[in-house]
Amino acid sequence: MKATHILGIESSCDDTAAAVVRDRLLLSNIIAGQEVHRQYGGVVPELASRAHQQHIVPVVDRALKEAGIGRGDIDAVAFTRGPGLLGSLLVGTSFAKGFSAALGIPLIEVNHLQAHILAHFILREGEREHSPAFPFICLLVSGGHTQLVLVKDYLRMEIMGQTIDDAAGEAFDKCAKLLDLPYPGGPHLDRLASAGDPLKFKFSRPRLEGFDYSFSGLKTSFLYFIRDRSSENPAFIGENRADLAASLQKTIIDILLNKLRRAAQKTGIRQIALAGGVSANSGLREALRNEANRHRWEVFIPDMTYTTDNAAMIAINGYYSYLEERFAPDDISPMARMYF
Ligand code: KG4
Ligand code: ZN
Repeated sequence: MKATHILGIESSCDDTAAAVVRDRLLLSNIIAGQEVHRQYGGVVPELASRAHQQHIVPVVDRALKEAGIGRGDIDAVAFTRGPGLLGSLLVGTSFAKGFSAALGIPLIEVNHLQAHILAHFILREGEREHSPAFPFICLLVSGGHTQLVLVKDYLRMEIMGQTIDDAAGEAFDKCAKLLDLPYPGGPHLDRLASAGDPLKFKFSRPRLEGFDYSFSGLKTSFLYFIRDRSSENPAFIGENRADLAASLQKTIIDILLNKLRRAAQKTGIRQIALAGGVSANSGLREALRNEANRHRWEVFIPDMTYTTDNAAMIAINGYYSYLEERFAPDDISPMARMYF
């Protein structure tokens, strides 16, 4: 059978990315980040879409060049339709539509969250096969989402539970800000936590039935705790920064893994995967490995390259959609909110 080349485009937030796969094999994976948001302490949507417009053409050119192929070799173009920032999504969507129309090749819409999960099926040159078997449970943790997903097949997924307020990444970022760490605070808090005592401080944990998550109570409890202690001792944060980070990180991880454990027990599934930006967290990765030993799970932890936003995951998702001939109409528009 002839190999299939898919070009993937990702522009849902503040990274402009393009990647090419030949069937499951990754040929190139290019990302242009946007430093402009750092000074504002968060992503500014208007600036993001403008930067995407500047980056998209050179990023796609590089992806094709590194893949060693020409435009004419591409069989279909896959793009992130949502969820994400509408102005950002619009840039990738318009580009993909133009590319598909100009070359007369199919257009494939991709759900960004589903793509984070399918990143587990990307193959790299010389790498041995190590992907989850269906059905598996994926803990999807990012800056905008926190979900427990039952993955029945490449394109058939069901949400078992999700956050009813803040996402885990948001909890990391908002609490990191209270510790005066730069944005996005998750990776900084992770580094700081490795030098701290995770049992030093206790913060409130949600009592929610079922598999849903909640992180807004934890954020508030962290805020009040810091405020009260700082009013007694103005140097409190400075003197306890690493312990605060470690204790907070442990609380977030415990909350995440509690529900995951219950979901695994209820379904009897032992194939467990992690996905999304927060899956880069070293404490979470280690805790999941320990949990796997305890419960005889087989766990799949993404390579660091695929934890945060990238287009390789969009291209691989595009490949599976291509096999099922799931093509998008040429008048398709992006969606800020999107479900499986
Ligand atoms: O998946 P992602 O790149 O973008 C979204 O789709 O949201 O996730 C970004 C989130 C941010 O909240 C960031 O702080 C968090 O992932 N993150 C981390 C770490 N690396 C990234 N959180 C905790 N520890 C990390 N090492
Ligand atoms: Zn993401």
